[in-house]
Amino acid sequence: MHNELYAVVGHPISHSKSPRIHSLFASETGEPVEYTAIQAPLDDFTGTVEHFFERGGKGLNVTVPFKEQAWHLAGHRTVRAQKAGAANTLYLDQEGVLVADNTDGVGLVRDLCRNHGVRLADARVLVLGAGGAVRGVLGPLLAEQPASLTIANRTVIKAEALVDLFAEDAGTTRLEACGFEQPEAAFDVIINGTSASLQGDLPPLRDSVIGPDTVVYDMMYSLTTTTFNQWALDHGATTVFDGLGMLVEQAAESFQAWRGVRPQTAPVIHELRTD
Ligand code: ATR
Repeated sequence: MHNELYAVVGHPISHSKSPRIHSLFASETGEPVEYTAIQAPLDDFTGTVEHFFERGGKGLNVTVPFKEQAWHLAGHRTVRAQKAGAANTLYLDQEGVLVADNTDGVGLVRDLCRNHGVRLADARVLVLGAGGAVRGVLGPLLAEQPASLTIANRTVIKAEALVDLFAEDAGTTRLEACGFEQPEAAFDVIINGTSASLQGDLPPLRDSVIGPDTVVYDMMYSLTTTTFNQWALDHGATTVFDGLGMLVEQAAESFQAWRGVRPQTAPVIHELRTD
């Protein structure tokens, strides 16, 4: 059987681990998938996507800085993509309509809850950041029904806007917005969704938000300890995870959306860790 073509589109793209992850999924499942990386020109994401599907491509992952454009380009959005306002997965449906999906949030929740055994139900959760990455994961986080979900951000008004946007999804969860310095009591789970570490910064949290049982999750990943996780360890955290598992889980969810087959993620996470 000839291989069917998939790719990740971004700018830059050379660092992307997606081709490796999906090649491992293809070998593991025996699915006829060939997966490449495409660097789209910054001013022609649309043309790149159209060209890919015109020459028979089956599905795309989309990464920085095109996730919002992918969302706008699609003719149909899944429910989770609709709320996320951004898409990381594109494919054509049976009528040839471009569908946008977002698997980031489900990837985060699967990594936290299934891979790491963290219970979000009834937990007090602190989410740091209010940009696209955080918006993409709030729906699946709220679906786990934490007791409270506090969104802290440098620009508080952006956290407040997310609280308004997700109010209808909160159910019994107390959903609130604040600045980084405001929270004092310890949280059960702290999730860093800021890009502060890219500028060598840390969100200026009080040390007291970390208690002995706090689980810390950085959506960034690193083969060493991430900047944020190192800060947490230095301030009393004992359980820290980075976003490599989330990356593999979101990829598995995309693979399933395209192929109808769910790959095993644990061997792939292990392989990337030991690269
Ligand atoms: P992404 O798609 O990664 O979410 P984004 O939409 O630009 O990118 O959002 C980046 C997030 O990181 C925002 O919450 C941003 O805070 P502001 O909303 O105040 O801009 C946060 N962030 C970026 N640099 C930061 C820094 N140096 N300190 C604290 N927060 C920072």
